[in-house]
Amino acid sequence: MKIQSLRGMPDLFPEDLERWHIFESKLSKIFHSFDTHEIRTPLLESSELFSRSVGNSSDIVNKELYSFLDRNEESISLRPEGSASVIRAIIQKKQEQEKHKFWYQGPMFRYERPQKGRFRQFHQVGVEYLGFEEGIAEYELLSMVLQINKLIGISDYTIKINHLGDRDAKKIFCDSLVTFLKPHINELHVKDQARLKSNPLRVLDSKEKPTQELLKEGPKFQDFISDDSKIFLQNLVDAFSNHCDIQIDQSLVRGLDYYTGIVFETVSQNLGAQDAFLGGGRYDNLSRHLGGKDMHAIGFAIGVERIIELLNIENIKQPLKVGFIIAGEQIDKKTYKIADDLRSANNSIILDSFLSEGSLKSQLRRANKNNCSYAIIIGKEELKNDQVIWKDLSEGGEQSLLTSKEVIDKYTNL
Ligand code: HAM
Repeated sequence: MKIQSLRGMPDLFPEDLERWHIFESKLSKIFHSFDTHEIRTPLLESSELFSRSVGNSSDIVNKELYSFLDRNEESISLRPEGSASVIRAIIQKKQEQEKHKFWYQGPMFRYERPQKGRFRQFHQVGVEYLGFEEGIAEYELLSMVLQINKLIGISDYTIKINHLGDRDAKKIFCDSLVTFLKPHINELHVKDQARLKSNPLRVLDSKEKPTQELLKEGPKFQDFISDDSKIFLQNLVDAFSNHCDIQIDQSLVRGLDYYTGIVFETVSQNLGAQDAFLGGGRYDNLSRHLGGKDMHAIGFAIGVERIIELLNIENIKQPLKVGFIIAGEQIDKKTYKIADDLRSANNSIILDSFLSEGSLKSQLRRANKNNCSYAIIIGKEELKNDQVIWKDLSEGGEQSLLTSKEVIDKYTNL
């Protein structure tokens, strides 16, 4: 039997990763400008971390967690998201009372039914601001979201935003929702009947028509949160509405239990069914909940597979490439010295050295195929005279003989 990759866990080849690298290099500039620093946490954590944070009743923990017993019979899980681990790390380091601006990236694991835009191993880039109470942090994170979208050329998107109130408001609203829905349980889709039992707030997320109709008559989050929270939400929306499409969505509760306060998602109609490419919100209670001290927390995570679908790379300049061709069979240490000197002189150029032997013609064909703009050709004669052939590969391009010093100068100033 052939060994295959696991379902929903794709390999990523260089041609796939080209877009990723563009995205990552642009993102690192944004993080730098916000003075946000990278944190790396393990891929494996104690299962309890996720049941206590993401929530026992959430789909992520209930159905999607990759959990195993290790050799010590302890239940460990592959992380389904990054926020819980970041909070765990800070509690462990006893730094809850400091302020932190973190970013992270890496694979996450959820045992979901794979489909377009949904994988079992997928990647997130996340940002977590710790120690900042409700206020400026919300503005800063939303403006970071706008900057990210702008820098990578996404203009066709909507930010959905809601305020879940504090923990008490969430609990009171949840009770009232259950009281309202219970007498109508038979009118709900079976999936929603199950949600009503396990995690009632998720019924608000339902895509089922009868459930949506029923909810129109039901209690609204907005009626349970304080006036201050409502004003804050409206002010946020007003601040950004001139720069993007941002809409209050009262049905937005998000799939993780730890949120209180502002929650948001960005969606794009160019993505199909899995249209959310970023999600986040405030989760001030999580540190306490995991046994740490009180710590304000807010953040978001981008689904990398989804956002790079939207990446506009047409106008992105490709790096200059020069083919390095050794003509004939002479392998000479001088040849490699030239290649070494070229790379040291200008490492923003790709020096594409063809490692296989072959005729000059076939190597030149390959240089053209690989989109090289120039070729450096070294033959026996040239080597003897300490020279190389410099060939412009554009239509009608010329070639000239240069000394090894001249070629380094030319290469440095390309
Ligand atoms: P989330 O909404 O569960 O939030 O995930 C964030 C993003 O990850 C989603 O918007 C989506 O783009 C991507 N994503 C989720 N599941 C999959 C999947 N199976 N395949 C491909 N992409 C997926 C969180 O994870 C929170 N930790 C975000 C956060 C950070 N909240 C506060 N801080």
